[in-house]
Amino acid sequence: MVTINRPDKLNALNQEVFRELNLVLDEIRDNHAIQSAIITGSGTKAFVAGADISELRGLTIEEGKAMAKEGQDTFFRIENSYKPIIACVNGYALGGGCELAMSCHFRIASDKAKFGQPEINLGLIPGYGGTQRLVQLIGKGRAMEMILTGNSIDAATAHQYGLVNQVVTQEHLLGKAMELLQIINAKAQSAIEAAIVAVNASEEDSKNGFEVESDAFGKCFGTADTKEGIQAFIEKRKPVFGKDKG
Ligand code: COA
Repeated sequence: MVTINRPDKLNALNQEVFRELNLVLDEIRDNHAIQSAIITGSGTKAFVAGADISELRGLTIEEGKAMAKEGQDTFFRIENSYKPIIACVNGYALGGGCELAMSCHFRIASDKAKFGQPEINLGLIPGYGGTQRLVQLIGKGRAMEMILTGNSIDAATAHQYGLVNQVVTQEHLLGKAMELLQIINAKAQSAIEAAIVAVNASEEDSKNGFEVESDAFGKCFGTADTKEGIQAFIEKRKPVFGKDKG
C-alpha cells in the first residue's frame, strides 16, 4: 500500500512526494512479489489536497509547463502500470489529488471523500492531466462545470458521475479495495496486462490534449492573476482577479 504522508499539509504533492512516488512506482514495476497496489492518503481528512501551492509561487511560464509535464509523466506511469493500481480516496481529492486518483486504474471512495479541480480559484487550470481524464471519466459538460466553477462534489455525486466505482464507509475502504484486488490478483497476469493496454488504447486520441494542457498551465504563470491567486492562498485571503485586464 502506498500512503501519501504529509497530513499537516493535507498530503499536498511537493517535489519530494513526487520523487518518492516515482521510486515506489519503480518498485511496483520491478518487484515480482508485487501484483497490484493501492494508493491512499494518510489520516482521515485528505487523500491529497492538490499540488503544493507554496511551490507554485514565482514560477515562470517555462517552469510552469515543465512542472505540469513532470506531474503528467508520473501520472502516465500510474495509468500505464501493468500492475493494477487502485485509488482509495479517504477525504479531500482536490486538484492534483483528484488528478492522481483519476490516473489510477479505478477508484473506491469513503463516504467522506470530496473531489474537485479548484485551480481556477488560484487563477490557474489543472496541469496533471485533469482537463483530459475528468472529461474521459465524467463527460465534457460535467468536467467543464467542475473546472470552471472550482466547486467540489461529494462522494455520492462522484459515484453518480462515474468518477468512483464504489462508496463505502471510511472503516471499510481498504477492506473493499483489498477484496477487489484479491479477485484481480487471482487472474492471469498476462491477461491483466493485456486488458490494461487495450482499455488505455481507447484514449490514445487524447495525447495532444495533455500537450495543450501543459502549455496552457505554463502560460498562466505569465499572468498577474495567477501570481495573485497563489499569493492570496498563501496569505489566507480572497484573491482579487482582473489585474491582467489593465
Ligand atoms: N498546498 C499547500 N498547502 C496546502 C494545500 C495545498 N494544495 N492544501 C492545504 N494545505 C495546507 C494549508 O495551507 C494548511 O497549512 P498550515 O496549517 O501550515 O496553514 C494545512 O494544509 C491545512 O489546511 P487548511 O486550509 O487549514 O484546512 P481546511 O480544513 O481549512 O481546508 C481545504 C481544507 C482542502 C478546503 C483547503 O486546504 C484548500 O482549499 N486547499 C487547497 C486546495 C487546492 O486549491 N488545491 C489545488 C492546488 S493546485
